[in-house]
Amino acid sequence: MAKVRLAGVGKTYPDGTSAVNSLDLDIADGEFLVLVGPSGCGKTTALRMVAGLEEISSGTLTIGDRVVNRTPARDRDVAMVFQSYALYPHLSVRDNIGFGLQLRKVAKSEINKRVEEAARTLGLSEHLDRKPRNLSGGQRQRVAMGRAIVRSPQAFLMDEPLSNLDAKLRVQMRAEISRIQRDLGVTTIYVTHDQVEAMTLGDRVAVMKKGVLQQVAAPQELYDRPVNLFVAGFIGSPAMNLLQGRLAADGDGARLTLGDQYLSVPASLLAERPRLREYVNRDIAVGIRPEDMEDAELGDGAEGTVLTSTTELVEALGSELLVHFTLGAPPVVTEDTKELARDAGADNLDEGKRSSGVIARFSPRSRTTIGADVRVRVDTGRLYFFDPVSGAGIWEGPAPAHQQKEETHA
Ligand SMILES: Nc1ncnc2c1ncn2[C@@H]1O[C@H](COP(=O)(O)OP(=O)(O)O)[C@@H](O)[C@H]1O
Ligand SMILES: [Mg+2]
Repeated sequence: MAKVRLAGVGKTYPDGTSAVNSLDLDIADGEFLVLVGPSGCGKTTALRMVAGLEEISSGTLTIGDRVVNRTPARDRDVAMVFQSYALYPHLSVRDNIGFGLQLRKVAKSEINKRVEEAARTLGLSEHLDRKPRNLSGGQRQRVAMGRAIVRSPQAFLMDEPLSNLDAKLRVQMRAEISRIQRDLGVTTIYVTHDQVEAMTLGDRVAVMKKGVLQQVAAPQELYDRPVNLFVAGFIGSPAMNLLQGRLAADGDGARLTLGDQYLSVPASLLAERPRLREYVNRDIAVGIRPEDMEDAELGDGAEGTVLTSTTELVEALGSELLVHFTLGAPPVVTEDTKELARDAGADNLDEGKRSSGVIARFSPRSRTTIGADVRVRVDTGRLYFFDPVSGAGIWEGPAPAHQQKEETHA
């Protein structure tokens, strides 16, 4: 086991594609770090550079105490688990797991010992003599994990290892990977485009966009304090609603105008985030998480906390209702939100639009129906704010470290 450090690591492919841009990551010994971001943001390239499968164009890669930029893959002592687990169909589970050790001429008794240990960890002990074709998808994925485990590597590198499994199995294997990693305590870098997987697995999660690291933090920290619009919109499902508003002073608090309606921003929130005062009488990007809205009919909606609209769609999930409606405030259009729209499969954000679609998570006790007027109570203490041009989150105190760096370079 070892720490892994990327310092300014970059990759430019021979055709000129800049896939990874000066990536800084410090992964602690035994840590589970998840690298997440939309397809094409450079996750696989970053992982392959750590594995030694892709040449590093710039920067320094350290595994343990060794700089390994020029070390061939086989000497880096890391084990990679891929999306397509490529088992040898003619070999038994036992031989598939032990294959790498046989190549390395490890003694047969030692191989047997390690394979059986790994099989126990993975719940494969009864299947050691089977062929891959007689295994379920989840069991095959476990065999692929077994190959990595028996090598007792310094680090596991996993590239979307669960993306070929169906949804239910993915959840199950997710829990299993988490357990195994904790049991073995092996430093792990795990790549996925699925933000739920990222949040549930990672000790810390690193969010990338177009080859550039946006934020690396514990899952809850990412959710609660995203550094910019991209992270805010990428982490969370349904996504944070983003609207363009305008802030005006109002006693110790502020009044946030959203189209032809307004919300009162409590004084306590302004006290926590004094930088918001710089935005008074200016446009501001506002974020509202779906769970920070509720049907106002289910409780009292104080003045300045209620928005009105018409329910357009209700998705009843049993435990909650996803209620869709429109507010008369323009969408936030920045480079970040365009990238989010692309990732979500939308053709484009309509820049001229005067209104925005919003999704709220209501209690299933709500009686709202399609076409009905709806009053939506907003937890105004939990509003998110961003600079409408740069997209940077507006938080109290010093900006997060990497943001400071960007600012000083600018
Ligand atoms: N061998 C290659 N040559 C040129 N460009 C590549 C190569 N491999 C990947 N890319 C490009 O590099 C970028 C990052 O790709 P990749 O690391 O695979 O992203 P991800 O794994 O996040 O989907 C993409 O624009 C992709 O098209
Ligand atoms: Mg990839």
